[in-house]
Amino acid sequence: MFRILDCQPRRLVRLKTFLKPSFASQNGRSQSSESQPMMRMNSGCDMPMIGIGTWKMTPCQALDAVRCAIGFGYRHIDCAHVYQNEREVGQAMQDKIADGTVCREQLFVTGKLWNTYHGCYEVVKQGLEKSLCDLKLSYLDLFLIHWPFGFENGCELFPKSPDGELALKKDIHFTNVWKSMELLVHERLVRNIGVSNFNSTQIDQLLQVATIPPAVNQVECHPYLNQVCLSTFCRERGIQLVAYSPLGSPGYENRTSPGPIDDPVVKCIANNHKKTPAQILIRYQIQRGHAVIPKSVNAERICQNFNVFDFCLMEHEMNQLLGLEKGKQGRVVQYTDACAHPEYPFKELLSEGAE
Ligand SMILES: NC(=O)c1ccc[n+]([C@@H]2O[C@H](COP(=O)([O-])OP(=O)(O)OC[C@H]3O[C@@H](n4cnc5c(N)ncnc54)[C@H](OP(=O)(O)O)[C@@H]3O)[C@@H](O)[C@H]2O)c1
Repeated sequence: MFRILDCQPRRLVRLKTFLKPSFASQNGRSQSSESQPMMRMNSGCDMPMIGIGTWKMTPCQALDAVRCAIGFGYRHIDCAHVYQNEREVGQAMQDKIADGTVCREQLFVTGKLWNTYHGCYEVVKQGLEKSLCDLKLSYLDLFLIHWPFGFENGCELFPKSPDGELALKKDIHFTNVWKSMELLVHERLVRNIGVSNFNSTQIDQLLQVATIPPAVNQVECHPYLNQVCLSTFCRERGIQLVAYSPLGSPGYENRTSPGPIDDPVVKCIANNHKKTPAQILIRYQIQRGHAVIPKSVNAERICQNFNVFDFCLMEHEMNQLLGLEKGKQGRVVQYTDACAHPEYPFKELLSEGAE
């Protein structure tokens, strides 16, 4: 059922030698920087399979956490304008470049076009330039359309219409935004482009107009929302899936019930491997062939979340995790405030009953 990656003994041994439980060398530099598994995108560029997520990090936390992550060997940093911490993420990257831990070319930095920048080419470019300026970079490795729907343009991240509702922008379609994204590649301001939170119908629509196909679709993915159909759909079209909220976003205020990190099945598998539930959930994504971007501001957890290459989940364990699927009840990031937009991607959330 699964494409089990990295489970060949030879491959495991090789990864083990690179990723020991404590993998920072005495001078604090990572020994693993060039050795983590990479994923080839349809552009021919490689993306490190584990990245550090930065959503919900305060600016101060982002500075420390990203420095720490790069020190531990992370090379993939997942950013977004709407997270309001890109200046500090940029500073952290500069600091690790300045102290010789990495050079720019070793980092893989993802940014996301926020919804208020859905507009003509100039508006889209402004959205990118804001992130480039804050991140102190001259190019991004990957730039995503954050959501398939737009908001009214302007300085407010979440603009309101006079009636107090979110001011949705319905006069520009994501296929037009995509044409501008392609121009950013031609201008060499971004190396790869992709989407986030797109459903399969929306991807099909995009592919009909694209001259550069999306390299990735970044979506919520964990054992309560496995995205089996979307994952297959993307793979068949050469689009890589990046799993966000891989731990089920346990700290998220919208979460009303325990997530997969507290699930007895996950805990049992973790005990059997002498690993933590978080490590099981991250390894699960890698073995499914997904890139994965766990967020943590805690040094021990940042290290732990990257240390998932010295064990392998068996097929029956993968199937047990898959069996935890909860359908639409498992989705944490729902964004129902935007459900009146014709391109709101999770229509199933608006219908009655279980999936
Ligand atoms: N494209 C999108 O629309 C979108 C949406 C959501 C998320 N994302 C991206 O995906 C990233 C990850 O998703 P997420 O932040 O929602 O959730 P997540 O990575 O599933 O979970 C993060 C939460 O888990 C805790 N945690 C981290 N490592 C842990 C460990 N080893 N043991 C126990 N708890 C642990 C963190 O707390 P501490 O920080 O205190 O460790 C934090 O509360 C985001 O940061 C963002 O970059 C993208």
